[in-house]
Amino acid sequence: MKWQGVIQQYRAYLPFADDVQIVTLNEGNTPLIRADRLAEQIAPKAGLKLYLKYEGLNPTGSFKDRGMTAAITQAVREGAKTVICASTGNTAASAAAYAARAGLRCLVLVPEGKIALGKLAASLAYGAEVISINGSFDDGLDMVRAIVERLPIALVNSVNPWRLEGQKTGSFEIIDQLGGQAPDWHCLPVGNAGNISAYWLGYKQYGKGLPRILGGQAAGSAPIVLGHVVEKPETLATAIRIGNPARWRQALEALDESGGIITAVTDAKILESWKLLARLEGVFVEPASATGLAALKQQIELGEIDPVGKTAVCILTGHGLKDPATAVDQATPPLTLPANVEALEAYLAASK
Ligand code: F0G
Repeated sequence: MKWQGVIQQYRAYLPFADDVQIVTLNEGNTPLIRADRLAEQIAPKAGLKLYLKYEGLNPTGSFKDRGMTAAITQAVREGAKTVICASTGNTAASAAAYAARAGLRCLVLVPEGKIALGKLAASLAYGAEVISINGSFDDGLDMVRAIVERLPIALVNSVNPWRLEGQKTGSFEIIDQLGGQAPDWHCLPVGNAGNISAYWLGYKQYGKGLPRILGGQAAGSAPIVLGHVVEKPETLATAIRIGNPARWRQALEALDESGGIITAVTDAKILESWKLLARLEGVFVEPASATGLAALKQQIELGEIDPVGKTAVCILTGHGLKDPATAVDQATPPLTLPANVEALEAYLAASK
């Protein structure tokens, strides 16, 4: 059957009315890539079957599109004319795109100076009203939660249950792509904790086995690991720069029910895994997206996870082009040569 987005594909598992008009960009159906070189690097000779779920290949470059097709579809159904969200950037871009497609006004609140360029560019291109606030994502979320109590505007952050309904289709896809069974470990970054909650809902609903969940938080923004709100969250992985996750309770449930682990990884370790993904497997992601892999590598090193013969899936939540500045900052600058073949040959001779 032709792929027409996650609602159409998994309609039987989603609580939409029969005659709902679906707003879709044909999101989902992202590749599950076997990563043997990476597996050998993080767990030598262990026979670890490592897979990368490349969610950066969704229409707006992040996993948010799965939940956004559902949230915008339902918002239109309920007669909304305006939608709003707070965002570290990806939710903003996704909301802006789906709102454009549905002909809705879209407002997005982003933390000033802490949103990666690709996310800002996309949100502006899709015609959203981008509002920069001199506060954190958490401050923005407080603001949008309050405004929807006062005005007839639909909130499309993952506190909206339809977001989780759409996002849970990621679990269905992983099971389908693995031939009908869940992996042993499901590894992912945790920010506002919508995604971890949604995946767990999905695994439970599909009824084809349950993985253990491994959540990674950036060390400077690790409220769930620490067990308290972080007032001033910091990390280079700006997507998950969040100090008070809205879905905290559900995240703890997912971790508890799955026999899972939540752990903090330093920015240095996030960058290390980010580099390994690109250099060993040719998969370019934004830094936050490497946090699941960094957590897996760390827990294997600590002896907390035994990789022997296991299957692990790492969710790569956003595309590398979302954050070109970090990619360039982390690299050695390009070489400059005169425009002739002799110069190129001399370079190759010298750099053998
Ligand atoms: N990875 C990326 C690339 C993200 O953009 C986010 C969240 C996460 C992981 C964490 O997912 O919040 O469901 O735990 N980004 C949100 C945003 C907060 O506004 O784009 P989560």
